[in-house]
This record gives sequence, structure tokens and C-alpha cells, in this order.
Amino acid sequence: MHMVLTCDPANIHYILSKNFSNYPKGPEFRKIFDILGDGIFNADSQLWETHRRVTLSLMHHPSFLKVLEVTVWDKVEKGLLPVLQNCAKTGSQLDLQDIFQRFAFDSISKLVLDHDPGSLSLDLPNIPCEKAFNDLALVLLHRHILPERYWKLQKWLGIGKEKKLSKAWDAFDQFIYPRISLKQEKRSKMFDEERRFVGLTTLMEAYEETNNSIRDAKAFIRDNILNLMFAGRDTTSTALTWFFWLIATNHWAEEKILEEIANELDVVKQGQDSRLFNVQQSHKLVYLHAALCEALRLYPPVALEHKAPVQAVILPSGVRVEPNTKLILFFYSMGRMESLWGEDCLEFKPERWISERGRVRHEPSFKFPAFNAGPRTCLGKEMAFVQMKMVAASIIYNYHVRVVDGHPISPSDSIIIQMKQGLMVRLFQRNR
Ligand code: HEM
Repeated sequence: MHMVLTCDPANIHYILSKNFSNYPKGPEFRKIFDILGDGIFNADSQLWETHRRVTLSLMHHPSFLKVLEVTVWDKVEKGLLPVLQNCAKTGSQLDLQDIFQRFAFDSISKLVLDHDPGSLSLDLPNIPCEKAFNDLALVLLHRHILPERYWKLQKWLGIGKEKKLSKAWDAFDQFIYPRISLKQEKRSKMFDEERRFVGLTTLMEAYEETNNSIRDAKAFIRDNILNLMFAGRDTTSTALTWFFWLIATNHWAEEKILEEIANELDVVKQGQDSRLFNVQQSHKLVYLHAALCEALRLYPPVALEHKAPVQAVILPSGVRVEPNTKLILFFYSMGRMESLWGEDCLEFKPERWISERGRVRHEPSFKFPAFNAGPRTCLGKEMAFVQMKMVAASIIYNYHVRVVDGHPISPSDSIIIQMKQGLMVRLFQRNR
């Protein structure tokens, strides 16, 4: 239990940016997150630089944004809206968190593996890999808290929470490896002109160009895919869940988002199919963007970050930290500090994110570290906002979401603060 917790922005700036090289993820982090293998989350120094370059090249690929838009659009139209429509028609309850997790899982899987597992469809099938991410986030928090010997013993005996993790591990491998094999096979038969943007192929080619001395290329690709899926599924779905709870309990904000959609989007004015919104349209939704930032401030999905200094340091706050001390950066508290956000810090106020010129206000990442800060800033921030805005606008424009009376709301004990009991809602179709 020997650890230092900090929520001081000066310390955060110092650790994540100014003195970055003294704070690698380190061996302790790697032990806890062993399931992520050699992927970007576990990597330091040269390996991390390679990952960063390759992942960036994927996201800056000329076709990436278009493929993202088509993927999200397709999922909203063929997965999300039919499920919501069915729920509105039958008056049944629905766990919105589960729906967002399925949405994010199918989308990221389609993007990086070129495979849509269809977990978000009318019969809501049980896909072991999809649910395994919940167990992963839960067990990883336990590993942060329990003495290492204790969880290692559980792992060795195959009992308790560690049993869940080893099942999750199998589920990931069984989902990812066959897709890699299939892609390897197809690639060898593909003519150049047949090649189009496919996340997995692009990643494979990029890694081949950068590093051909990798011990087991297939395992290496598996690690990277799993890291991207973990990054893409849990964070976005958690952010959307808290966002919908916040607007369901602050009706005026929902009204303002609706008004913005009606005022800003031509598609609505022209009476075209207004059930869906594209990337360009979502860029115009400033108030919606601000409301999402506000939800991320109050409920950052990655609530804490774990670091270990290589050399002893005195942090800007005056605390001395010895080498290899577990250093926890507590982002959750930072969103609720009066010294940072003023007296109304506990209130949901999207307006605080809008500048006098009507644009989204920029806040420095060491004050608002929901997407991390410094050289290891989240690579999927832009992608997450595109997804969240397209989904949120489509739902809010078509349905009024009401939380089921008496449904308990609390954060889960996990490294991603999901809702412990999900978000049970009823949906009411808007008259258009
Ligand atoms: C609301 C959504 C998201 C939030 C709040 C978020 C937050 C974060 C945070 C806090 C980190 C730092 C984690 C660490 O170093 O331990 C991170 C890293 C990362 N995120 Fe995100 N993320 C989001 C969505 C995404 C999406 C959709 C992707 C795309 C797959 C993504 C890709 C990544 C990657 C690749 C890293 C590793 C960066 C590095 O270590 O250099 N994120 N994200």
C-alpha cells in the first residue's frame, strides 16, 4: 500500500510533460497490465516511440476519417437505432451502458480488424470477448490495490478475480488471432489495386517497415490490436453513459442540445433523413461538444494514472518521492476541485466550456487530464469526439431518454469508472 496520490496540476504537469523521461510506465505497470503484452499502453522508450508513430500513421491515413464516419454511421443506422426503436415501441427498459459498450466494441473491431462482430443487434448476442473487457477493467484495479504476492497466488491457483482475467485472456486471443491469420492469408493473395484502407493491414505493413526483428510477429500484432480495442471500447462507452445520465438529470441541457441541432444542421432544416448525423455536421455542434467535455470533467473514464519515477524527485508541491514509488495521478478529483473549477465545480455546466466567441474553450491538459497530458496524450481523442457526437446527436434528436426511477447510480471499482449497475433507461420517440 505504499503509494503517493496527487491531484495537484503543477505535479501533473511536471510528471507528464516537463520531466517525462523520469516517469516511464516501468516494470511494475507491465506486471499489472501483463495481458496487454507489448502493446502501446505497456511500452516505454523505443518500443513506445514505434507504437506511437505507427498508431499515428494509422489515424492520419488519408482514408481514416472517412472509414471512421462510414463505420459509425453504419453502426448507428443498422445497430443502435433499431435497438432503441424496439425499446421505445415496446416500452421496455434498456441498459444504455451495455448498448454503448456493444456499439464501441463493434466499431473499434470493424476499424482495426475489418470485422463487425454484430454484438449490437436486436437479439443482443453474448459475445465473450465483448464482455471480457469489463472483467479486465475490474481485475486490473484489484491488482493495483492488493499486494503483488496475493494476486500472483490467486493467478497461480486460478481462483477469484484472477480466474476471470485468465478467461478474459482466452476470449481475447480466440477473437483476435483468427482474424490476424485470415488477414495474413488474404494479404498474400491481394493485388495492389485491391488494397484499400483496412486498419489491420495498415498496421501490419507499418510494423513490418519499422521493425523486422520482432520475436513473434503474430503475438505482437495481437497485443497492439488488443490495446487499441481496450482504448476504444471502454473509454468512449463510459463517457457516453455518464453524459446521458447527466443530461437526463439536467433537462435544460438536453433542450439546448436539441435547439442547437435544429439551428445548426441543414439536414434537419431541409427535411432529409435526419436520423443520422455525419462528421462535418457534428463539428458544428459546439454546445454538445461542451456538454461532453463537462461530462468528462466530472467523470473521466480513466480516473487515475499510474507512474513510477526512475530517480528520486521532489515534486513541485514539495513532496519527496523515492525511485519506484507507486505514484497515482488522480484525475477524478481534479475535475471536482474548487481551486481549479470554481465554487460551482460540482455542478454540470456545459457553459463553462464555451468562450465569449462561441467556441469550445481550451483548457490545458494538466488541468483537464481526461485524455492524459504531454507526450503520452491520448491518440484517439479526435476519434472519440467524432463518435460520441454522432451517437449523442442521433439519439437526442430522435428520443427522449428517461432514467428508470430509483435506479442506483454509482461508479464501479475498476480502472475505467463505468456505472456499477449500468444505466437503466426508457426511451420515448420524439414526434417529428
Ligand atoms: C472518451 C474517450 C477516451 C478517453 C477519455 C481516453 C483517455 C486516455 C488516457 C487517459 C490515456 C492515457 C492512458 C495511459 O497512459 O495509461 C489514453 C491513451 C491512449 N488512448 Fe485514449 N481515450 C479515449 C478514447 C480513445 C480512442 C477511441 C482511442 C482509439 C483507439 C484511443 C487510443 C489511445 C491510445 C493509443 C493511447 C496510448 C497513448 C500512448 O501511450 O502514447 N483512446 N487515452
